[in-house]
Amino acid sequence: MDGVLFDLDGVITDTARFHFAAWRQLAQQAFGVSLPDSFEAELKGISREASLQRIVAFAQLDGQYTVAQLAALATQKNENYVAAIKQLTAADILPGIQPLLVALKARGVPMVIASASKNAPLILDRLALSAYFTAIVNPNDVHQGKPAPDIFIAAAQKIAVNPRKCVGLEDSVAGVAAINAAGAVSVAIGHASELSAAAVVVPTTAALTADLLEQAFEQYQH
Ligand code: G6P
Ligand code: MG
Repeated sequence: MDGVLFDLDGVITDTARFHFAAWRQLAQQAFGVSLPDSFEAELKGISREASLQRIVAFAQLDGQYTVAQLAALATQKNENYVAAIKQLTAADILPGIQPLLVALKARGVPMVIASASKNAPLILDRLALSAYFTAIVNPNDVHQGKPAPDIFIAAAQKIAVNPRKCVGLEDSVAGVAAINAAGAVSVAIGHASELSAAAVVVPTTAALTADLLEQAFEQYQH
């Protein structure tokens, strides 16, 4: 295993709930619709703009908004989201993640962030984790979002490693598909029923160790 490619939201810290709370608020205020709980999984790993499109479609309001109006709504959601994540501290790092980063660093395995979030640098800074990562892929530099493999390929390029020599960590269906399409070994955090496309699924981040990732790589690399 020559590199580990990390998703951020829902893997390093539980920002998935803040994303969804901000979308729910926007959907209610702007469109008068309540997003069902089941919508949360559908928005994981999906860019801000594409998430808004899915919500507009759910509200059956396709074609009703101009590009400028949609951009303003996306900005409004982000302002609410950023207000929530400004409260994050190192206490909000998910269980097992800091020891995993320490262990991988000790083994000399380079780590990269492959998140669709434009807020990734801010979040890593709030969590005091920036120093562990060789690079953070800028999602603006990536052609196609998850489930396309682009962001994981770009992440492997940042460390000059073939994606096939990497493990990718994800909590989303779209992200697991992206890791698999990039040729890396996918390790997912969440429900095995939802994330069955992953090579390995663990129920929580507390189960993640450097040995587990090495074993997953040895068993499933292709
Ligand atoms: C991650 C999250 C998505 C979010 C996307 C963009 O992939 O899982 O829920 O929409 O990042 O995040 P941003 O912070 O740029 O709005
Ligand atoms: Mg995620």
